[in-house]
Amino acid sequence: MADFCTISFPGSDFLPISLECHQSLSEHLTIQNSPVLFGCRTGICGTCLVEVIGDIPPPQPDEQEMLETLVANHAHVRLACQLELTGNVLIRRLEG
Ligand code: FES
Repeated sequence: MADFCTISFPGSDFLPISLECHQSLSEHLTIQNSPVLFGCRTGICGTCLVEVIGDIPPPQPDEQEMLETLVANHAHVRLACQLELTGNVLIRRLEG
């Protein structure tokens, strides 16, 4: 049996989604099932900036560099398109 991870979207009307762990979020989140908006899906545009609370690996150097350009000192901010699901997460879209 595969392990499942749950993605919840507190503060929005979207229902939690269960996915097999180790899936890439950008392949499964859509405008219909989540509040997350995507642009490039390759980590360069910054459209998918979200706050993520949960058990996920730290950013790779490319994502880290992009995050530092976009937001200063925000511990939980990540690029949703670069995330691999490794545990349950709460995702909030950043107010733009
Ligand atoms: S969709 Fe462009 S950085 Fe994630």
